[in-house]
Amino acid sequence: MPNTPQQSQQFLDALKESIAQSSLSKLVLSKPSGAEEGLVRIVVRQVSIKNQPQLCFVYSYKTRDITKNFALPEGITLINELLGNSFRNANLFTTGEELQINFSKKGNPLLHRSTNRQNSATTHTHDRDKQRYLELDRPFLTALGVTNDQQQLIPAMSRKWKQINKFIELFQHAFDSSTLKEKESIQVLDFGSGKGYLTFALHDFLNNSRHINGQVTGVELRAEMVTLCNNSAAKLHLDGLHFHLGDVRSYTHDTVDVMIALHACDIATDHAIHMGIRSNATIIMCAPCCHKEIRPQMQTPAVLQPLLQYGVHLGQEAEMITDTLRALLLNAHGYDTKVLEFVSLEHTSKNKMILAIKREQSHKNDKTLAQIRSLKAFYGIEKQCLEGLLTSA
Ligand SMILES: C[S@@+](CC[C@H](N)C(=O)[O-])C[C@H]1O[C@@H](n2cnc3c(N)ncnc32)[C@H](O)[C@@H]1O
Repeated sequence: MPNTPQQSQQFLDALKESIAQSSLSKLVLSKPSGAEEGLVRIVVRQVSIKNQPQLCFVYSYKTRDITKNFALPEGITLINELLGNSFRNANLFTTGEELQINFSKKGNPLLHRSTNRQNSATTHTHDRDKQRYLELDRPFLTALGVTNDQQQLIPAMSRKWKQINKFIELFQHAFDSSTLKEKESIQVLDFGSGKGYLTFALHDFLNNSRHINGQVTGVELRAEMVTLCNNSAAKLHLDGLHFHLGDVRSYTHDTVDVMIALHACDIATDHAIHMGIRSNATIIMCAPCCHKEIRPQMQTPAVLQPLLQYGVHLGQEAEMITDTLRALLLNAHGYDTKVLEFVSLEHTSKNKMILAIKREQSHKNDKTLAQIRSLKAFYGIEKQCLEGLLTSA
């Protein structure tokens, strides 16, 4: 039954007004009556989906979140039904004030109204919400051991948390500058997914932040990691997130919109990039590590002898050449490519990312191919895995 007492009506009026004036930050329904098992709270935000204003309801259960979007009148009716019936408390945050309504056990409402100083910088649009990348209260973070049951960061995981956020930040910029942002459904492959931190994060970003159907597959050599990740995904009821026991070097997939390979060892990165290029992926993102292929082939040019006589310099030079060749090859195959810092050296030595976005129109690449030939000749490099894969296919 919808509740109608005067204070509830004032609360609802304030909600409607904040929606009309685009000043709604969020509405939180809490203290559930237990009408629906496991439901802890609902957070409602105003979002814009395909330029239509909607109310986005995130239903938080003990082990998972479910998101549903409603047209404004439908959403307001639903809130009216839930208020005082399924939930005994509601907080309405607008850019100017905060209202709290609390229902006693007998169902009598008590309304508090206060100026909301803290919230004045928060936004009403979904577009601005996207700037926050990830929230610590996401259930997958608890399942993967990044946060505890109170959804607080576990100190030992702070490096990983930084890395996850940086990854989502970089992905978001790439996604927004690509044609993928127009699609309703996209396919993502994560090669060498390991414990799945970035795979879960990407699935969460696409499905819960962007509300698109993101089908995400992690491919991993280690069976125990695959089982662990599939169990967590099943426990959280995450549709469209799967982990596959397989080898990057032989795995095939029909459609790939996004190919990521973060810290896939040595030439596993080349196989992943190759598959991305061959599948016409729109975004290819990789953070290479364990560069082993080029160093033994390198012949030090005389002028660089003083520099590369030191083993540590030779190793760094070999890494730089390997990743430069990969970036140039991507460029030559129709991708705008950047090499950028992933997570600063303070946190990890694996700090480089190659980010490639498919050009809408490919153009002549003779100059890039000539640069690749010159670079290889200068250092006496005979073969590079990605180049070999691209020329043999
Ligand atoms: C350093 S971990 C990185 C995990 C994850 N991508 C991340 O950045 O947090 C590299 C993972 O790649 C996997 N791996 C290495 N070679 C592979 C291959 N050829 N095919 C599939 N997985 C591979 C390893 O088992 C390992 O779990």
